[in-house]
Amino acid sequence: MTTTWPKPAAGSWTEHHPELGTGPISFDDCTSAEFYAQERDRIFKRAWLNIARVEDLPRPGSYLTKEIEIAKASVLLIRDRDGEIRAFHNVCRHRGNKLVWNEDPRAETQGTCRQVTCKYHGWRYDLEGQLTFVQQDSEFFDLDKETRGLVPVHTDIWNGFIFVNLDDEPRQDLREFLGPMLTGLDGYPFDRLTERYDFVAHNNSNWKLFADAFQEYYHVPALHPQQVPPAVRNPDAGFTCAHFQCDGPHRVVSTAGPRRWTLDPAYMYPIERATRSGLVGPWEAPDLGNIPQGVNPGGVESWGISNFQIFPNVELLIYSTGWYLLYRYWPTSVGTHRFDGSLAFHPARTVRERVEHEVAAVVFKEFALQDAGMLGGTQAALETGVLHEFPLSDQEVLVRHFHKVVADWVALP
Ligand code: FES
Ligand SMILES: [Fe+2]
Repeated sequence: MTTTWPKPAAGSWTEHHPELGTGPISFDDCTSAEFYAQERDRIFKRAWLNIARVEDLPRPGSYLTKEIEIAKASVLLIRDRDGEIRAFHNVCRHRGNKLVWNEDPRAETQGTCRQVTCKYHGWRYDLEGQLTFVQQDSEFFDLDKETRGLVPVHTDIWNGFIFVNLDDEPRQDLREFLGPMLTGLDGYPFDRLTERYDFVAHNNSNWKLFADAFQEYYHVPALHPQQVPPAVRNPDAGFTCAHFQCDGPHRVVSTAGPRRWTLDPAYMYPIERATRSGLVGPWEAPDLGNIPQGVNPGGVESWGISNFQIFPNVELLIYSTGWYLLYRYWPTSVGTHRFDGSLAFHPARTVRERVEHEVAAVVFKEFALQDAGMLGGTQAALETGVLHEFPLSDQEVLVRHFHKVVADWVALP
């Protein structure tokens, strides 16, 4: 069920969600090894996880591997001969060797193939995962190739985003899991935004701490002061967001504000003025046709960005200027995670557009580093164990919701 939180004249976003409370919260869930082990079993082995886009597998035989350390899983995605995308555990049925890898068995890889051959004893599998060839098969005992195909992983696609579910039997199908707020994005032209800039960063903080930094804008005036000219601040209330909403385990925050080009040039890098692009992307929006209402679920006037957090570890930021950002936080230990960031634009039609996209990508990296660098400090300080409760403002309501949902999932039998 979608819960909208119309902010009344009195009261607050948080008070309209009584189950969240308004008291201080604990971040022990970011430093406890026991809790991390529970997140593995109760969250990452149960939730639908987005690991790729359909464009990453352009034709039959395209494959890629995804290492999901926290779930102790390596997943192989393949587009089969009929064009369907299939997911398997990346493990050979003979003696358990990792099937697809290049140079470093722990590193991800991708490419195109006609079949998959194990490096160890040469067993082969077709694009549908069937075992097709066994070296000296007459030496085996009652070996039935039919039953020794690759072990499938549940997979499904929503608007071109490929999800997998590592549970034996998923508790919900993908659309049910995503719920009405996210499926309200159906029809957004993600398939037209195929010019991608991908980054990976290894960060010294718990995966949830980085997600927290992107679900509130309360930190922006202090950490990214050059981003906040007086014109975007509400003079009475400081920097506030226009809309918060939760739907099941997922969340969104939307911002409003004047367009970039109306702002004081003192708050931009010279290259932003020169290229008419920067942190919020190219100033000129491409014509993407009809955009579903769901991108701005609060109906915010002069809508700027909606930042959807897809539980557990994906963030999808849709910009009014016709592009999107995708973040994925992959835990690698209780105090570290791997951050995948991706910017997606329409394919540039001119050199100017290409430059706009590249400038947006570079400026994005700079701001993400400001967050990533500081959060190593948050993790280190939380690990001292001096403090166990922390006050949150109304602008941090989604942080409160996220940690509650994580705790709720961990508590589920
Ligand atoms: S482990 Fe793969 S063929 Fe032997
Ligand atoms: Fe930030």
